[in-house]
Amino acid sequence: MTDTTYEPYSQDPGYIEANTSLIGSIDLEGVERVADLACGTGLLSGLLIDRKPTLTIAGIDLDPVQIGIATRTFPGPTVDSLEALEAEAKAGRGAAFFSAGSAMDLPFEDGSIDLVVIGNAIHLMPDRDLFLRNVARVLRPGGQLVFNSVFYVGTYVPGTEPLFTEWMRQAVMVLTEINEERKARGEKPHPRVRGKGDRAFRKDWLSGEGWGEAMKAAGIEVAYMADRPVPISAEGLALVGAYGGLAEVLMSGYPVEVASECLMRAAPIAFENLGIEEVPRNWLEMRGVRV
Ligand SMILES: C[S@@+](CC[C@H](N)C(=O)[O-])C[C@H]1O[C@@H](n2cnc3c(N)ncnc32)[C@H](O)[C@@H]1O
Repeated sequence: MTDTTYEPYSQDPGYIEANTSLIGSIDLEGVERVADLACGTGLLSGLLIDRKPTLTIAGIDLDPVQIGIATRTFPGPTVDSLEALEAEAKAGRGAAFFSAGSAMDLPFEDGSIDLVVIGNAIHLMPDRDLFLRNVARVLRPGGQLVFNSVFYVGTYVPGTEPLFTEWMRQAVMVLTEINEERKARGEKPHPRVRGKGDRAFRKDWLSGEGWGEAMKAAGIEVAYMADRPVPISAEGLALVGAYGGLAEVLMSGYPVEVASECLMRAAPIAFENLGIEEVPRNWLEMRGVRV
């Protein structure tokens, strides 16, 4: 069965490289208390504690399965409450606490956080202005917001769209094949249920400049903004497609495991049909400072 969690893609070399570079660029001088929002399997938290072992990191994600993986795989000590995390911070010891919850609803005191990171998820926030205001509330003056995203205006490198179109076309063909096999076994084809399966996923993407304006309106000044091309291989795209959070959007209405399987199997076919081995896709990287 297809693994629809974010874990397989979070181990893709291109993905790790993009995030290692993001975390490596942060000035951690004076940073102790960190919030890793929409932390997924905790990749960013792990990279942060590797750089500075005294950090205390609160990771929050909607999905309890990813929270379980983050807690199990974190390379430093973990605790089981925010109070215990604060006790570690006061003692100057690094640790993390991962909990299931919404990044729209931050359980931190005003001005108590030195650094907020949100890896490839800011585009998922249902109300981005409210999200940024909440981040500004919990950051201390001079505190930083750092994020990256591959869902923004500018992510597609011109000329690479045919690969993504071919990927979707092939995914539908794989679905047809699966349904034919089901029919041959006397089973019904997978039904498409309209209006279902679309978790919060915004299609009205912002540009980097757009994010900058939204940050400024919330009281966070942009200190750094860059587009970074990262190559995606056939294997990388297959892992992206297998991730249920995206599959249920790209093939909305179908059972998520089926959508994941179709997108995963379609990726190498699309690359082969276009006769290419990888495509670049731009990552937006931004850092802002709470005024
Ligand atoms: C693309 S993954 C990124 C995971 C992780 N930040 C990383 O960089 O590896 C997006 C994550 O956002 C989480 N997510 C989506 N909406 C959320 C929300 N409102 N609050 C908290 N987490 C959310 C999903 O559960 C998923 O784990």
